[in-house]
Amino acid sequence: MSADLPVWDALKFGYLPTDVVYGVEGDAEADPPWAEGGVAAEHELRLPVAAAALSYGTGIIEGLKAERSADGRVLLFRLADHAARFFRSAERMLLLPFPEERFVAAVKQLVRANARFIPPAGHGTFYVRPLEFAIEPMLGLRQGRRFMVTLYGCPVGDLGHGAVGALKVLDIPRSSKGGTAEAKAIVNYGGVLLHRERARREGFDDVLFTGAGAVQETTGTNVFCRLHSGELVTPRLDGRFLGGITRDSVLHLARAEGLEVDERELRVQEILDHGQELFCTGTATGVRNVARLVHKDREKTFTQGELGETLGQRLSAIRAGSVPDPFGWTDEVSL
Ligand SMILES: Cc1ncc(COP(=O)(O)O)c(C=O)c1O
Repeated sequence: MSADLPVWDALKFGYLPTDVVYGVEGDAEADPPWAEGGVAAEHELRLPVAAAALSYGTGIIEGLKAERSADGRVLLFRLADHAARFFRSAERMLLLPFPEERFVAAVKQLVRANARFIPPAGHGTFYVRPLEFAIEPMLGLRQGRRFMVTLYGCPVGDLGHGAVGALKVLDIPRSSKGGTAEAKAIVNYGGVLLHRERARREGFDDVLFTGAGAVQETTGTNVFCRLHSGELVTPRLDGRFLGGITRDSVLHLARAEGLEVDERELRVQEILDHGQELFCTGTATGVRNVARLVHKDREKTFTQGELGETLGQRLSAIRAGSVPDPFGWTDEVSL
């Protein structure tokens, strides 16, 4: 046993070493392209200094959760959907796509081997971070041939409590058409950090990216707005931001409740003029209401904890296995 267990009541959203990480290498010209792979105690990677991903950002990530139910089962949330997105992200970044059934097996192997790090029911979750990147030495940008898939995981608490405070609207797109934002590519993150840090220095919690006045996403969540008319709107997937799996789950839950739900263009102006409630969705964040939205000299304060909280609680209950899962979203891991 290598790593110490955390104090369950003091868990935050952050990295902690565990017993094992998963690793496997792939070679596009080998048969079969992916080696057998497996878990090992070593938590550090050894890479050539010229490994392609380090120079060119040819890498992708995923993020999903395992959780203990009150009756002692370990449940993974929307595993197949994360496997499918990992595959699509690899295709977009010209990496060697990792077969979905291999992804599913690797996540289960990692979770099983780190079972003692899965928090007790109600005390947090086990966050799994799969990565894939191009590892062969490369000077001069070209499509790679050799890749590594690595998965680590750690126990986490919530990313935050209560409402997201204030969001600052930026007249900057996360991505334009043909960009990388619809993939979970590592190049989507480093570049937006500056925007978020500047906004944080002004007292905001995050920024909201927009393209020509249309809402896209924050640095790490999708957004929903409930208008005074009762309509629940989230931006239609247009290739310029990430199609969140939490977003999709909230859409299913809202439709199952019989709400009027629309995936369409959502304009900042419309939120400022007609928005009643605004919330963010993401695997790490869950569903969190936004207190305030600021765009230039306009500001809007929202109703708190109504629909966002209800949908968030429904989602958490399904994920934690405390209510039936009518959508087949949870996968039990046999320990
Ligand atoms: C840029 C971005 N948008 C949206 C999301 C929400 O996606 P999901 O609900 O699949 O976690 C994430 C999650 O990491 C993200 O990084």
